[in-house]
Amino acid sequence: MLRTRITEMLGIEYPIIQGGMMWLATAELAAAVSNAGGLGIIAALSCGDGDGLRREINKCRELTDKPFGINISMLPDLANDERIEEFVDAAVAEQVAAVETAGRTPEPYLPRLKGAGIKVIHKVPAVRYAQTAERLGVDAVALVGFEGAGHPGMDEVTTFVLIQKAARVVTIPVIAAGGICDARGFVAALALGAEGVLMGTRFMLTRECWAHERIKAWLANATELDTMIIERSINNAARVIKNEPAARALAMEERGATLAELLTVISGQLARQAYQTGERDAGVISCGQVIGLIDTVPGVNEVMAEIINGAHAIYRQLGAIGIHKGST
Ligand SMILES: Cc1cc2nc3c(=O)[nH]c(=O)nc-3n(C[C@H](O)[C@H](O)[C@H](O)COP(=O)(O)O)c2cc1C
Repeated sequence: MLRTRITEMLGIEYPIIQGGMMWLATAELAAAVSNAGGLGIIAALSCGDGDGLRREINKCRELTDKPFGINISMLPDLANDERIEEFVDAAVAEQVAAVETAGRTPEPYLPRLKGAGIKVIHKVPAVRYAQTAERLGVDAVALVGFEGAGHPGMDEVTTFVLIQKAARVVTIPVIAAGGICDARGFVAALALGAEGVLMGTRFMLTRECWAHERIKAWLANATELDTMIIERSINNAARVIKNEPAARALAMEERGATLAELLTVISGQLARQAYQTGERDAGVISCGQVIGLIDTVPGVNEVMAEIINGAHAIYRQLGAIGIHKGST
């Protein structure tokens, strides 16, 4: 058991959150993380509509009695307002513990979510958005550094600076995301001023994540040099693993492709196909630079235990060089 404002706010044992992941953040993965003492999150978009999300939430309830959340990604190309309303309705009706919002401002949905007692964690790639979110009344902000998977923003500021800066300027709890996979990253994030961490790539490479074994094995062999940024041309930078469709998307962008043209390559449906078939070039796959530190596919419990036990070991190491309670 560790205590920060994040563990208190969410009623969890450890301030470790599994970020939403389109198609992969299912009830099974979320429940495994919550059962291990963190906060698991179901990706609403993968559930289709509000009814689908309610079914997934209920499935998660059968697998855990611990708190868990849902992710509502609001990127304009992914979800229209009607679908977002349905997901918000489902979150409120099912009384999930938390909602991770991302992609654009959660302002229109805050009164309903907060009115229902649901904690809202808004995920952003820049300090200025964290400040706006704080002003709007979200409960916590997750900041994603440029090394992170998914959409780490256009500013190219990495986690080390982003977290410290955010912790200086907002008063609500800051959650660090991007580049964290183990005890070292966890302790570093806390040292920078974060009160919790959020990980995507690490939880993608676990036994409980349903992605095809071939995809997970391929990624486990990848290095920190094997990711790339696409979608800059549509102002929506995405960090993905290098593969044929990612290279093709970049080439199309260089030729000035429209969003509609790009979608034929970057569509999430194609990523789903890759996860299902194990065919690595079927679609564009989100992946963080932290993949260079990940070379195994353990169970979620092992990931969590390594972080907690490892954090204590690092504390002892720091003590050995003279950094400890009461030292001057
Ligand atoms: C395969 C994959 C899919 C993702 N899909 C989403 C998504 O649908 N919505 C979202 O807000 N973030 C998504 N993310 C981003 C994660 O929630 C998280 O912010 C990011 O992975 C943190 O960086 P890390 O990978 O270095 O841990 C995805 C990440 C991965 C690896």
